[in-house]
Amino acid sequence: MAEQGGLIKGLEGVVAAATALCDLDGAGGRLAYRGYDIADLARQATYEEVAYLLWRGELPTRAQLDGFGAELVAARPLPDALLSAFRLLPKKADPMRALQMAAAVLGTFDPDATDNSQEANLRKALRLTSQLATAVCSHHRIRLDKEPVPPSKDLGHAANFLFMLTGERPSAVNVRAFDASLILYAEHEMNASTFTTRVIASTLSDMHSAVVGGIGAIKGPLHGGAGEAVMLTLKEIGKVENVDAFVEKAFAEKRRLMGFGHRVYRAGDPRAAILRGLAEDACRQSGQQMWFEMAVKLFERVNRAKGLIPNVDFYSAPLWYSIGIPVDLFTPVIVAGRIAGWTAHLLEQYQDNRLIRPRGQYTGPGRRQFVPLEKR
Ligand code: ACO
Repeated sequence: MAEQGGLIKGLEGVVAAATALCDLDGAGGRLAYRGYDIADLARQATYEEVAYLLWRGELPTRAQLDGFGAELVAARPLPDALLSAFRLLPKKADPMRALQMAAAVLGTFDPDATDNSQEANLRKALRLTSQLATAVCSHHRIRLDKEPVPPSKDLGHAANFLFMLTGERPSAVNVRAFDASLILYAEHEMNASTFTTRVIASTLSDMHSAVVGGIGAIKGPLHGGAGEAVMLTLKEIGKVENVDAFVEKAFAEKRRLMGFGHRVYRAGDPRAAILRGLAEDACRQSGQQMWFEMAVKLFERVNRAKGLIPNVDFYSAPLWYSIGIPVDLFTPVIVAGRIAGWTAHLLEQYQDNRLIRPRGQYTGPGRRQFVPLEKR
């Protein structure tokens, strides 16, 4: 741990909040949401069930899920003003900036915007989860000079996302893979963006403001932005035969390899292991095995030489690419998954709040005499 005189650089190992959401065993490489292993959730649950679990503490019954699903569906449409705002943005606008704007604009329309009660926050968490998915797809369509596809009333969350993106009903196989990937991104303890959202909430600012901050934090390449960077790396490599030469050059240049390494996992990121299987199937089904093969060879070379483990963003890149998600939407898709976890953390933060206000270790000059402007 990088600790100097009480300063813990990057807050490594610091426990910043109690949480009942995510049990992350970094040494054992295991992860559970509210006690349920993520492998079971990814294989057998839907994103809706996981969101319910995170917000309410238990998996829903069939009747509860039906009611909850209907509420999510009802919350999908966006205010016309947000669609108009997307039309005003430059066509080349970064989709993450558009999403940040969307979260802020949605706050201005939300009837519970400034109400920080548990019931209001549950309603806002649900609305944000549905609306941000619609926002990602609507902004994407508008920047391509296409009309947004209105959300479907009869598709689940994952299927509706793919439908709104393309205008076509997605295959069951793609829906299952995408749903599983959203589940795997839904929550991850005190990562940088979740911490950001909790810091904002700790001032008793509102949920939409916290989410705007979370979106800003997750877009960086050391965090959620890594997925996009992985795909750009695979494209740069181009073909499986080029992996060895690429890795040698990357090592010589001391280049940081995106999608590798993790602050907490030592034995391996369990999400990556599940995503690897999903990516293999999806790449094979779409006839794009090359991306999966390239990723595996890159992993083997890097892991053998440096012992670095692939993280969640490594295999989600070939998976999402092969099911037709544009590369610059990878991070917005991560937000569409992580919103359930952010908002679940915010519910926890508001229920047991104390201002998060750490200290800084001063390294500047000692006290000195002020010199008036005309004498400097
Ligand atoms: N490529 C090359 N070397 C690496 C990598 C990498 N991806 N990750 C870690 N290392 C090396 C560092 O160079 C450092 O070596 P040194 O001790 O010889 O200087 C050592 O491993 C420790 O690295 P730190 O950066 O100190 O580890 P930290 O815990 O601060 O960072 C992080 C973790 C940011 C994830 C890092 O591994 C990284 O930059 N990975 C690439 C970006 C990435 O994939 N981010 C996604 C993370 S998962 C998520 O947020 C969704």
